[in-house]
Amino acid sequence: MRYQRMIMEVESPEQIGYDLVRVNLAESSMRDRTLAALGMNPEDLSGLLLQYADHRGSEPARAAIAADGEGTAPDDVLLTVGAAGALFLAATALLERGDRLIVAAPNYASNLETPRAIGAEIVPLDLRFDEGWRVDPDRLGGLLSDGAKMVSLTTPHNPTGAELPFEDLRTIVAMTERAGAWLLVDETYRELASEPGPLAASLGERVISVSSLSKTYGIPGIRVGWAVCRDRGLMTTLLAAQEQAALSHSVLDMAVAEWVLARRDWFLPEIREQVARRRGMVRDWIALDGRFAWVEPSGGVVCFPRIADSSVDARGYFGRLQAGGVFVGPGWWFEQPEHHFRLGYGYPTDAELADGLAALSSTLDEIS
Ligand SMILES: Cc1ncc(COP(=O)(O)O)c(C=O)c1O
Repeated sequence: MRYQRMIMEVESPEQIGYDLVRVNLAESSMRDRTLAALGMNPEDLSGLLLQYADHRGSEPARAAIAADGEGTAPDDVLLTVGAAGALFLAATALLERGDRLIVAAPNYASNLETPRAIGAEIVPLDLRFDEGWRVDPDRLGGLLSDGAKMVSLTTPHNPTGAELPFEDLRTIVAMTERAGAWLLVDETYRELASEPGPLAASLGERVISVSSLSKTYGIPGIRVGWAVCRDRGLMTTLLAAQEQAALSHSVLDMAVAEWVLARRDWFLPEIREQVARRRGMVRDWIALDGRFAWVEPSGGVVCFPRIADSSVDARGYFGRLQAGGVFVGPGWWFEQPEHHFRLGYGYPTDAELADGLAALSSTLDEIS
């Protein structure tokens, strides 16, 4: 493995220092919460025995996750250190140097970087602005005709917020099955889809769903994610990898995860309502300003607009925004042209979002 730091992590607000960030539009999640905001009483944790626990993660948590699938059982679920951990375990368990991986591009950086570190042959499935960032099943079929060990997709997508329609997902599952390839579906934003379907892992034995509690519930600090797959051989391999990397999970993290998973129906309506309202604010701003082009996202909490005038000095623009404390995710985080940027609208409050959008406009005035 040839590890390299990902630029998105080097330049992330938490690494730069949250104290330098006035308006955080770089985040791809809902606002971080405290235990109190989750309705938990820290005293409930005081009797918790700090022991090694089930290496697969707590049974109630796995049962709650499996219940979102059709025909998926708790033993098809392995809890991991965030969705990032699940992506890492899946890539290292399945890919070897030289293996062909077809991966949607752009993408969340780990989906490309871990396979790259392994030395896999990366075959990008290009998503294009003028095609609405849509995954084209025919283009994928063309790439698959040369064979692949794995196909890796993300829906709702980061950084574009585009969604893979469920019917297309079904078609792709059938294609990958015929080609003998594994299908990894990063569903970290599944609960923020326009119409959340069952876990992708429901659709076939060689489909791996990856997700976490980080984004929708704003609790990335507990580092709880998971992989779901109905292939028990793969699940045993993933468990072996988890045991070698970490043995078992933090029981504190598990306690919070169990609490949240048991109350998802209580949290979700308000979260979805906030996301819809803030997406509307971005829509209104794009229309009003007129100098940014986008594909309106249908899911998740991010979009990937661009400065319409590609002659604008994008690095200078983002630098000036940052100097004023306004952070977005520039195009280079995603190996895309510099005048694109990821704008996260789930994390800021309404007032912060309004402030940040106004700064995006006024800074463009200054630089143009
Ligand atoms: C698509 C996607 N997958 C995985 C992750 C990793 O999230 P975590 O490890 O916090 O669950 C992220 C984080 O930005 C993401 O956007």
